[in-house]
Amino acid sequence: MNDSPVIFNNTVLRDGHQSLAATRMSTAQMLPALSKLDDLGFGALETWGGATIDAGLRFLSEFPFDRLDALKAGTPKTKHMMLLRGQNIVQYTNFPDDVVETFVKTSAKHGMDLFRIFDALNDPRNMETAIKVARASGKHAQGTICFTSSPFHTIEKFIELGCVLEEMGCHSICIKDMAGLIPPYIAAEIIRGLKKNIKIPINLHTHETAGLGAATYFAGIEAGVDMIDTSIVPFANGTGQPDTVRMLSLMENHPRCPKFDQEALRDLRAHFESVYEELSAFTSTKNERVDSDALTYQVPGGMLSNFRNQLKEQKMEDRFEEVFKEIPVVRKALGWIPLVTPTSQIVGVQAMLNVKFGRWKNFSPQAMQIALGYYGQTPTDVDPEVRAIAAKNTGQDPITCRPADLLSPNMKNLREELKTKGYPDDDEHCVIHAMYPQELDKYYQAKAAKEEAAANVGKVISVRNLAMTIDGVRKEVKVEELAG
Ligand code: CO
Repeated sequence: MNDSPVIFNNTVLRDGHQSLAATRMSTAQMLPALSKLDDLGFGALETWGGATIDAGLRFLSEFPFDRLDALKAGTPKTKHMMLLRGQNIVQYTNFPDDVVETFVKTSAKHGMDLFRIFDALNDPRNMETAIKVARASGKHAQGTICFTSSPFHTIEKFIELGCVLEEMGCHSICIKDMAGLIPPYIAAEIIRGLKKNIKIPINLHTHETAGLGAATYFAGIEAGVDMIDTSIVPFANGTGQPDTVRMLSLMENHPRCPKFDQEALRDLRAHFESVYEELSAFTSTKNERVDSDALTYQVPGGMLSNFRNQLKEQKMEDRFEEVFKEIPVVRKALGWIPLVTPTSQIVGVQAMLNVKFGRWKNFSPQAMQIALGYYGQTPTDVDPEVRAIAAKNTGQDPITCRPADLLSPNMKNLREELKTKGYPDDDEHCVIHAMYPQELDKYYQAKAAKEEAAANVGKVISVRNLAMTIDGVRKEVKVEELAG
């Protein structure tokens, strides 16, 4: 039985603001908290990956590797952890092996210590390259089991996947419950089963969306889980992770309760309260509250709210229940895929299309790619009729190989493209350009505009001749406008 103190990781710098503030926390807003976060003794700080790379480029004009460098410099004692979507890196489609390899190596070079690697279909082949390269870089490779509920996803199936991931060389396993749907006792059963079958440590990751999070952690701890992820209020609870202080109270007098400096935690909370205020344009009471709706419908909370908005746009609000009942139909036809980025969006849209136009009459390109195997091996077989429709519509043959085997190496092209654009052509830029070419352009445009404005402060930026009447005489006057 596991009797060592539970390791708490902290997610405030990644999942915390991704879940509660649309991933808008800037590096500048993080910096004042770093030394305290570093001193507290968290197992790892989740600082990067997920949506932070996309959002940082798009909305904050931050080059992703600059953030990693700054956070690493500010928290040198604690391990850094990132969320990596396997062969999708931090995007929504598969990339060739050389790009995945360069991304992992370069992130390791910039100080990333622990790679949490997942695949939306739980296909180990899509995690393989990232796991290999993380290991070869001397870093921690954490294999991930995405939790979902379906007739296929029994406790035994999750345990089998854990065994596969251990065999592939993972240093630890994460049970990732992205939607906060895993009930405490089911988490405990999976953990007990894994503990019987594998030797590597187990991390439990959940969300408080439906109010199960802290109870699930507690049950997981009782079952011997090694690590859990917590965050800091107000970037905690609701659609985020349970907060650190609450988890410590829940565990008071528990033999596995870790020790934390409560005063430092209070100071951190005060800092993040002010950041939360600054980000009020991106926060919502809907994300803050616990809502069991996600349990009723068994889909991620974020997917539910997106869904309601999309139905409204399509003037289909009155068909919510009907569309909703179509979700399991779509999931079953597509081989009971889990609902996590990007499959949650793909399944939601297809359910809507099926209701609006009739089943598979309007088949989205992404859903067809799933049906044909281009996202990877689905948990169960795709419905043969549905697969035939996708093959006919696209003219493509279904595949059973690892999807990335069909992709040619691309690093050389990426470097050439960067040269043509006049950007730096180092590995850092290559991998960002591979995933987010338009966002990288936007970043450089914003940077150039900022630099120009800074260089011009006090300079004359326009000269106009204005006609004025002075002392009864019409005169032309030269007016200079200065940059400020
Ligand atoms: Co999460």
